[in-house]
Amino acid sequence: MTKVLFICLGNICRSPMAEFVLKDMAEKMGIEHQLYIQSAGTSAEEAGNPVHKGTQQRLLKEGISCNGKYAIQLKADDYNDFDWLLCMDNNNLRVAQHFFKVENSKKLKLLMDFTQNSRSIADPWYTGNFDKTYNDIYEGCKNFLEKVII
Ligand code: 4NP
Repeated sequence: MTKVLFICLGNICRSPMAEFVLKDMAEKMGIEHQLYIQSAGTSAEEAGNPVHKGTQQRLLKEGISCNGKYAIQLKADDYNDFDWLLCMDNNNLRVAQHFFKVENSKKLKLLMDFTQNSRSIADPWYTGNFDKTYNDIYEGCKNFLEKVII
């Protein structure tokens, strides 16, 4: 069982999108039993709130439901509890490194480190562009699965 935690700021836009995209990919490949997938935010601002409507709608276009997901904040135990902690942007990564007191961790990384062009994923809370965020997240999750899981 490989445990994966996606991390963003609020846990309402990007990291829940990544959580449900990776769950869907794993189900379609029939390897969902090999993975435990969660998401959390570095901030407590949105804790308890449902997934942002823009993320919900973009996922529904792919036939993916994220009903029942409510935002949670990162916990100190998460570093030991997960095999991979994948951040959406460099700011989330810096905050998480500070929070967990680690620097060059092999398991705390950017999701897009698994692609040929490592980069931050733009926050649709500010850009309003859920399509671009979805495309980046899809690419990151696909590369992560191919390089690490299968
Ligand atoms: P997320 O987006 O980190 O992708 O979930 C945001 C959600 C909420 C806020 C900022 C970004 N906020 O300022 O409340």
